[in-house]
Amino acid sequence: MSEHTAIPNNILTAMDYQSHAQARLSSTIWQYLEGGAGKGLTLKANVEVFDQVGLMSRPLSNVKSGHTRLALFGQQFEHPFLLAPIAYQRLFHKNGEKMSAMAANAQAGQMVVSSLASQTVEEIIEAAQQPLWFQLYWQGDRLGTLRLLKRALSCGYNAVMFTVDAPVKQAVIALPDNIQAVNLASPLAISALQAHQSMVFDGWMAQAPTWDDVAWLRDQIKVPFLIKGLLHLADVEKTLALGCDGLVVSNHGGRVLDSVPTSLSVLPAIAKLVSGKACLLFDSGIRTGQDAYKALALGADALMIGRPYIWGLTSAGAMGVAHVLKLMRDELEMTMALSGVPTLADIKASNTIIFN
Ligand code: FNR
Repeated sequence: MSEHTAIPNNILTAMDYQSHAQARLSSTIWQYLEGGAGKGLTLKANVEVFDQVGLMSRPLSNVKSGHTRLALFGQQFEHPFLLAPIAYQRLFHKNGEKMSAMAANAQAGQMVVSSLASQTVEEIIEAAQQPLWFQLYWQGDRLGTLRLLKRALSCGYNAVMFTVDAPVKQAVIALPDNIQAVNLASPLAISALQAHQSMVFDGWMAQAPTWDDVAWLRDQIKVPFLIKGLLHLADVEKTLALGCDGLVVSNHGGRVLDSVPTSLSVLPAIAKLVSGKACLLFDSGIRTGQDAYKALALGADALMIGRPYIWGLTSAGAMGVAHVLKLMRDELEMTMALSGVPTLADIKASNTIIFN
């Protein structure tokens, strides 16, 4: 856990924070942050896939008064980068989630606070001094899930992102005694299994949510409701049919099922299907503002970044997170300007994407 608050020298891109973060974390925590599932195939591909997409420069275009502003669910933001839900942020900085939330506000953006946050939802939103979004994990049953949801909504969270792609995910790190998922009632207990029963099917999956639960949740939630962790077109169709307000094309940063496609490779078909019927967010693999441009050009309305802002948090607390957001936005602006595109809305129609 780091206590640093000053921006290191010689940082020119968000990726420059990576080595500073590594130097400040134990190898166990570093592995927890950077690791992927299985052989790490999806983790690696998530980043590399952006290199297969090229750009086209459009000099002499008039981009005066260009900007990266956008509105999501009536909320105004200066740029399309949201901070993705990342668990246990006190592993990375002693002031944890509160630092990230302050940075999101300072950069006129948004943070999605994890169900597995290491600080209370109340203190995080107080530090933010703005409404935040809440990432919901299923709590084994409807009652427990509703309890957590109501707590977040009652202290001012104004959108709910339900993560569905990690139902059998257990804590993959032994947490220090003083760092816990403080907003959860108690660790999920698995009922005792018979000898012939499977830990996966009869244990974890017996308390995982299904589409019926999504339909039920949809009815409980009056604020914007998004589903995070979709890659398959049929699942996107169901999400739209259930009247969800948005979805996140995501493979959880390559941390759950190895060998699934990269988010970027499935984005164009999903964007075509969604075609404005819901808010389309994207994450997994964004490391630069140019990557962000490519995801926007392939159909995303907005983006979430995961590991890069945690590198900033580890290296320099709130200042580091704010700096990562600023660097990404600067790179996005420069990419837009050189591509002859003045606004986010113009990116999709710009024809500045080339598949290498
Ligand atoms: C995550 N992610 C995640 N997602 C979620 O819905 N709830 C969570 O608590 C967490 N926790 C978490 C911890 C760590 C250490 C990582 C790296 C990721 C997934 C996260 O929200 C996002 O989908 C990915 O991080 C995006 O990929 P990149 O930007 O890290 O490549």
